[in-house]
Amino acid sequence: MRTDRPDTATPSPGRSTTGTAVAVAHPNVALIKYWGKRDEQLVLPWTDSLSMTLDIFPTTTSVRLAAGDGDDTVTLDGAPAEGEALRRVRAFLALVRDRSGIRRRAVVESVNTAPTGAGLASSASGFAALALAAATAYGLDLDATALSRLARRGSGSAARSVFGGFAVWHAGTATGTDESSYAEPVPVRKELDPALVVAVVDAGPKAVSSRAAMRRTVDTSPLYRSWAASSGADLVDLRAALARGDLEAVGEIAERNAFGMHAAMLAARPAVRYLSPATFTVLDSVLRLRREGTAAFATMDAGPNVKVLCRRADAGRVAEAVRAAEAGAQVHIAGPGPGVRLLDEDR
Ligand code: DP6
Repeated sequence: MRTDRPDTATPSPGRSTTGTAVAVAHPNVALIKYWGKRDEQLVLPWTDSLSMTLDIFPTTTSVRLAAGDGDDTVTLDGAPAEGEALRRVRAFLALVRDRSGIRRRAVVESVNTAPTGAGLASSASGFAALALAAATAYGLDLDATALSRLARRGSGSAARSVFGGFAVWHAGTATGTDESSYAEPVPVRKELDPALVVAVVDAGPKAVSSRAAMRRTVDTSPLYRSWAASSGADLVDLRAALARGDLEAVGEIAERNAFGMHAAMLAARPAVRYLSPATFTVLDSVLRLRREGTAAFATMDAGPNVKVLCRRADAGRVAEAVRAAEAGAQVHIAGPGPGVRLLDEDR
């Protein structure tokens, strides 16, 4: 990834290409959620969102150009991709081909280290890694902003995984263009020193895809508009709390934003319900920690798993409390992780 060049993502049929590239990206967890698209084709959201990229669960993706212009071959975690997953990767590669002017088909291999489809944002790390590997293999020369815009087209949250640490994804202002919707890093006071304790209470695939669930929420939930409005205010407050390194305020804002999103989902018709009894067991343990004086705050995405924001120094204790409360949970401790990068040996 280059950060010193303007956006040069324009078709250039004669451009030379390495023909092969391998990229690594990490998932991110949103503290201010992205939930709802105003343009499905361009993946433009209704609201801004803000996340922390994790230092666990990387996705490694290789893209190799093959002879001919037939169908792309896609392998996910060692098995041929099929259905919606295959369709989305091929649509994304078609976009990259349009921009590069190179028609050759691609062979893609992607390996996730997080359970796919469990609300752990493997689509964020997956499309961030695919964006960089495919752009490089097809010879596109993109700066970080342009790469974020491109990753967004694969999966909205992937726009944020282009960056390490904390990143804000701007919903964008103009209609009908994708130029104004991209992520960028957010400065954070180093005293914040955060950790996210990830409690995986169910690693199975989700019943409703986030894509379908967010569409239903936008179309049918009477609470959607009020959540979207309050989310804008939450973002302003969160940025201020990050800048002053105020972990309690960051946690409170993130928790209320997530509960608001799930409330809007529950009011959809029919309801979108991702939270399970195990989720609430973990939430109770987070409340107990808080009552006992530990700063711990929960956030949940399109699945029953709970991510608990706390100080890095408290992460071991928080993980123990969560394990003690929900014996079936797999608990992982994450810190802020790096942005997407190419693996050097493949450059
Ligand atoms: C609940 O980015 O997976 O994790 O753009 O349709 O691929 P698509 O959705 P996706 O949605 C993530 C939703 C979320 C909140 C968030 O990460 O901001």
